[in-house]
Amino acid sequence: MSAFSGFYKKTIPERLEILKTERGLTDEEVKVLTDSGSLSLETANHMIENVIGVEHLPLGVAPGFLINGKEYVVPMCIEEPSVIAAAANGAKLATKSGGFTAEADEPIMTGQVQILGVGEDALEKFEANREEISNAAKELCLGMEQYGGGFRSCEAHVLDTKRGKMLIAIFYVDVRDAMGANTINTLLEKISPLLEEKIGGKTRLRILTNLAMRRKARAKCTWKKEILGEETIEAILDAYELAANDIYRCCTHNKGIMNGVDAVALATGNDWRAVEASVHAFAAMDGYSPLNKFYKNDVGDLVGEIELPLTVGTVGGAINTNPIAKISLKILGVKSAQELSMVMASVGLAENFAALRALGTEGIQKGHMKLHAANLAVTAGAKGDEIELVSKKLAEGGKYSVEAARNILKELRGE
Ligand code: MEV
Repeated sequence: MSAFSGFYKKTIPERLEILKTERGLTDEEVKVLTDSGSLSLETANHMIENVIGVEHLPLGVAPGFLINGKEYVVPMCIEEPSVIAAAANGAKLATKSGGFTAEADEPIMTGQVQILGVGEDALEKFEANREEISNAAKELCLGMEQYGGGFRSCEAHVLDTKRGKMLIAIFYVDVRDAMGANTINTLLEKISPLLEEKIGGKTRLRILTNLAMRRKARAKCTWKKEILGEETIEAILDAYELAANDIYRCCTHNKGIMNGVDAVALATGNDWRAVEASVHAFAAMDGYSPLNKFYKNDVGDLVGEIELPLTVGTVGGAINTNPIAKISLKILGVKSAQELSMVMASVGLAENFAALRALGTEGIQKGHMKLHAANLAVTAGAKGDEIELVSKKLAEGGKYSVEAARNILKELRGE
């Protein structure tokens, strides 16, 4: 029998003992794993299964985001240097030009019920019973109405597939400030017997789609040519055009946008995989395209616009259990999931603006490696004050490697 069988039934210390025996973890490594910071091991153990410790990532803030006239300090959780600096830089230049304007759709989540083995008249049956189905769905979402949300509408379409005809019933629910996965999935499972009764056939999948087309956020900024300079504007437009015409570049272009969006999602306890899935599916709807666009207005300023579906919340899920998520939301000061999504869209746009500006002009490596120097110093074994001294010397020498950092460290220590 494997030493790992029944792992889920063991206590955290028992799991760690198994890892020590089976994978050779040292006492020191166990100490690192279980140093859980503000997220207690007990809470973590209730959040996911088979917990053995807590992973830590840096949390920073990008100050100076002016969005719809309000100033935000944006918490971002990410392991990559430069991302926060880029967001703050994009935001600073945006503020000089009047800041971002942003808007968000009502927080409508979409769910699908797959009904198999249906007859030719499935769609007519759905339509004939739509009112009754809607009334039942409304009843099932009554809990959301006290918050101003609730069931909104339903529709259906037929798919002809290799496994026969399927009716796909679609439900739209306003989930207000929640991400809404549980609300919609519960509705879908509970409404299924009624669908089978009225339409016939058998329901199979009953699940939300992360491609939340009715839950999009948009942000826009006009960077003034007097501030950016015409050459920089041309450079950004050239860089953007490559993404618009080449999927290899577009992938990285969108990755840069998501550096910012995901970091805010993670800081605020949101499901960043849901955000990633929806955003990339959206980008691929008419052939994979950039999530934003840049163009020049009639006076030669640079206009940036972004639109993306954002399935994020400010209540529920890990947001309620993870203390850092709550503090991040407090720092951010958003009042609703819609406001959070407007901030995320603006951060994504700022992030891409800063990346294209750097890539299109001096390149990113100089700035990036300077910020990466501290990582190299730590990897080389620098501690405390040594980290800054080694980073500084690395930057002076312009040669960034762990080996270079080790040599500097040796010299510093007189070894
Ligand atoms: C790195 O994480 C992100 C960039 O590659 C984005 C881009 O190329 O636009 C700098």
